[in-house]
Amino acid sequence: MKRRKIIAANWKMYKDLAEANDFITFLLEKLPDTNAEIAIAPSYIALWHAFEATRNYPVEIIAQNLHYAEQGAFTGEVSATQLKSVGIQRVILGHSERREYFGESDALLKKKVQTALKNDLNIIFCVGEQLKDRKAGTQVEVVKSQLQNTLFHLNKNDWQHLVIAYEPVWAIGTGETASPQQAQEMHQHIRETITGTYGSDTAEKLSVIYGGSVKPENASALFVQPDIDGALVGGASLEVDSFVEIIKSI
Ligand code: PGA
Repeated sequence: MKRRKIIAANWKMYKDLAEANDFITFLLEKLPDTNAEIAIAPSYIALWHAFEATRNYPVEIIAQNLHYAEQGAFTGEVSATQLKSVGIQRVILGHSERREYFGESDALLKKKVQTALKNDLNIIFCVGEQLKDRKAGTQVEVVKSQLQNTLFHLNKNDWQHLVIAYEPVWAIGTGETASPQQAQEMHQHIRETITGTYGSDTAEKLSVIYGGSVKPENASALFVQPDIDGALVGGASLEVDSFVEIIKSI
């Protein structure tokens, strides 16, 4: 089964407007031919310019987060409808930095998932264990429960709008990558968990991407794994050349 390949850049709280615009200009000049979907998640301040600049190119501009409410007195937050008003069609939810530094629980993420789907937004949903879980050997249960608590109320059709990003917390921004075998093993577990509830047709169609210190040097070894359908890239997506190298590796 041919699954969609995706390489997504997560810029986190990096790049001001000029830097974001420069990156996009250079990227569009150097964009390699690829069958993968390319996405970039800049911070909110750059969304509109980035969307306009990539309008006629195979690069999708996506958001890093949203609030679950349609609108309201939520100072500093951004809603699904606001994102859609600047052309956004996909959002990252459940990133470990949101879970860890902003207290986003499974219960809250479930609400955000509902809001995104209700507003016809596609989702890159992040799951992943912490170092203590891996040391205790409970990584599979942790990831399984994240999936079950946030996504398993969905119906089969909803899964067409989802991509899962497996991001072991101990590998994010640390320079330490999960080995291709560790990543493959978890991706396979994720697919099996989804098969258990939704059947193999849903699970086989679902793209499961890996995140955590992906860089040009380790990308190909990850991408050749049968259950790894791409990457969510943080640090190495901040430079055009390394991002382009990662795209070329898939
Ligand atoms: P990293 O970040 O590539 O810098 O480890 C990945 C992510 O947080 O999505």
